[in-house]
Amino acid sequence: MQLKDIREYPRHDLNHRKDRIARTAMARNAPLALTLALAVGAACAQAPAPAPERAAQLVRMVRQDCGSCHGMRLTGGLGPALTRQALAVKPPEYLAAVITHGIPGTPMPPWSALLNEDEALWIAQQLSDGFPEENRTHAP
Ligand code: HEC
Repeated sequence: MQLKDIREYPRHDLNHRKDRIARTAMARNAPLALTLALAVGAACAQAPAPAPERAAQLVRMVRQDCGSCHGMRLTGGLGPALTRQALAVKPPEYLAAVITHGIPGTPMPPWSALLNEDEALWIAQQLSDGFPEENRTHAP
């Protein structure tokens, strides 16, 4: 086998490495790109209101389960405040993505096993508007 002139190597090698770096960067950003695509796709969507019984369940879940980390008044605890003021600059689509997928590497867990994306968006919109109180008279 005949080796090529050494001057033919560096450029090829460099392109190859640049290509690999670009691919790695893309792979790293894929989840973000997906989240953004999801957010943009949902940007104009208003979540359909769940049936009253399901809505009551979701309100209870947020007050109890989310409240255990975000504070019983949702004013913050282990997790940050989820009040209307605190979330004013955060798009509901972002909040819905966080609720659905959690924030890997932090205690914020994903909730996709317990609610669908419409429900996550509905909760996000309720949080942005100031979350409703639990209606204790109808609690089981
Ligand atoms: C085990 C504790 C825990 C539970 C339970 C929990 N969270 Fe979180 N949540 C966190 C933490 C911690 C963060 C902040 C993560 C970080 O960015 O470091 C967070 C972040 C968030 C954020 C992003 C806030 C922002 O300002 O960007 C939202 C929205 C959120 N949680 C909603 C919820 C909802 C809704 C529930 C219930 C369905 C819930 N969380 C349950 C711990 C929790």
